[in-house]
Amino acid sequence: MARLLSLRLNGRERTDAVKDNVLLLDYLREIVGLTGTKTGCDGGECGACTVLVEDRPTLSCLTLAALCEGKRVDTVEGLAKSGQLSSVQRGFHEKLGAQCGYCTPGLIMASEGLLRRNPDPSESEIREGLGSNICRCTGYVKIIEAVRHAALLRARGGAA
Ligand code: FES
Ligand code: FES
Repeated sequence: MARLLSLRLNGRERTDAVKDNVLLLDYLREIVGLTGTKTGCDGGECGACTVLVEDRPTLSCLTLAALCEGKRVDTVEGLAKSGQLSSVQRGFHEKLGAQCGYCTPGLIMASEGLLRRNPDPSESEIREGLGSNICRCTGYVKIIEAVRHAALLRARGGAA
């Protein structure tokens, strides 16, 4: 069965006809056309598909789109404002937190969710906050530096 799904996606209200069994990942990529959110394991193991639902990092490959009715959903495409990278995007860019980049959108959204609830996380809190996201390239050290740098940028008020 299909329904009209209304939500606030990257700060804009929208409504789409969506079947009840469509996953949030497929809704974003195939119906809306936002392909920044990646399909990795497709089974809740890698975190590549992480988006924010009501500010909480959420695995879109395990979430029905219909459950997002009336909610705020944020994807990596919504972070940059007026052509300016967000603090987390800058952190990953300036501290070389990405190599192949496949995990990066999910890690950026998990980091964004972490910093929204904890603006000054310790290293162990960063590790815990990103514990659902796998990166095969970086060894995580640069990623942790990236999140710390992003926290600093936010504290200085230089970036959202
Ligand atoms: S694609 Fe969703 S956790 Fe891997
Ligand atoms: S940068 Fe390649 S998987 Fe993370």
